Amino acid sequence: MKTLAKKPVKAQVKHFIHTGEYTRKDLDRILDLAREIKSGAFKGRPLDGKQIALMFFNSSLRTRATFEVGIRQLGGFSSTFEVGAGVWNLETRENVTMDGTKPEHVKDAVRVLSRIFDAIAVRCFPGLENFDDDMADGVIESFRKYASIPVINMESSLYHPCQAMADMLTIRERFGKTDGVPVALMWANHIKPLPTAVPNSFAVAAQQMGCKLKIVAPKEFPLPDKVMEQLPKVEVSHDLGALKGAKVVYAKSWGSPLFYGKREEEKRVRERYKNWILNPDLMARTDDAIFMHCMPLRRNVEVTDEVLESDACAIYEEAENRLHVQKAILKELLG
Ligand code: CP
Repeated sequence: MKTLAKKPVKAQVKHFIHTGEYTRKDLDRILDLAREIKSGAFKGRPLDGKQIALMFFNSSLRTRATFEVGIRQLGGFSSTFEVGAGVWNLETRENVTMDGTKPEHVKDAVRVLSRIFDAIAVRCFPGLENFDDDMADGVIESFRKYASIPVINMESSLYHPCQAMADMLTIRERFGKTDGVPVALMWANHIKPLPTAVPNSFAVAAQQMGCKLKIVAPKEFPLPDKVMEQLPKVEVSHDLGALKGAKVVYAKSWGSPLFYGKREEEKRVRERYKNWILNPDLMARTDDAIFMHCMPLRRNVEVTDEVLESDACAIYEEAENRLHVQKAILKELLG
């Protein structure tokens, strides 16, 4: 019987799961390299002959496009797996009798993939039903635990670090620095509760990179305590007037930790905040701010067409920057 060759287990495997696990110096190095890559000055092919597995438990446009293209541009190859669609649906709970609809356990899949690939990137959104489960970030942590190769977070329950790095690159490009830039992370309305991974990672990375960070959100929509504990310097306001002085408005909707799994209750609260949509009037309160968003976004629900079509809109360069920072992250882990 043919057996797969066992890869040597590296003593210290480096992952990219949360920017908070990296120092400011590390983040600066990655951003410097991303800038060099974007300018065309970087000619290396650090992924020559390397194979990366891209595991999607959830949909994506930007993440999938930028990882597939970026890996190829660095000389590597990627295989994209949509979990439950063409590859086995994966059980992610520990210590369960697997007599349901999921025929393979994530720990077995990860151990197999570790013998075939050089790195695994994972997208695994929260269920948005059980707060404690989602805060534990169990799926990405299973990959960290069972992989013997680097794991890259393409958005988990808690964090979207690749997006945050693209956001920091965008701010750095626009202002020549991140230190001291007044940034408002503004909660925006939506038709349904969304994960907190993007605002969580944006807030943590903005603080790491020295931005003057304000969170502007209704009192019923705080970020999770687990994230706020990492933000000792952040100012929080429940008043849209706090956008005054911002040079960056990062508009983003997120679900309330206070109404987790209670969609109808949350909907009633959200309806009180229909005016939390980024429009020209709100932009006029800022200090000529740029507008950022991770995308996808719902036009005229979170942000109006006027803002999206204005010179303030930085979202397309922000999306492009995913490509450059992820190539830098791949080089950092595998180069
Ligand atoms: N911002 C972001 O991660 O986009 P996708 O969900 O389309 O990948």
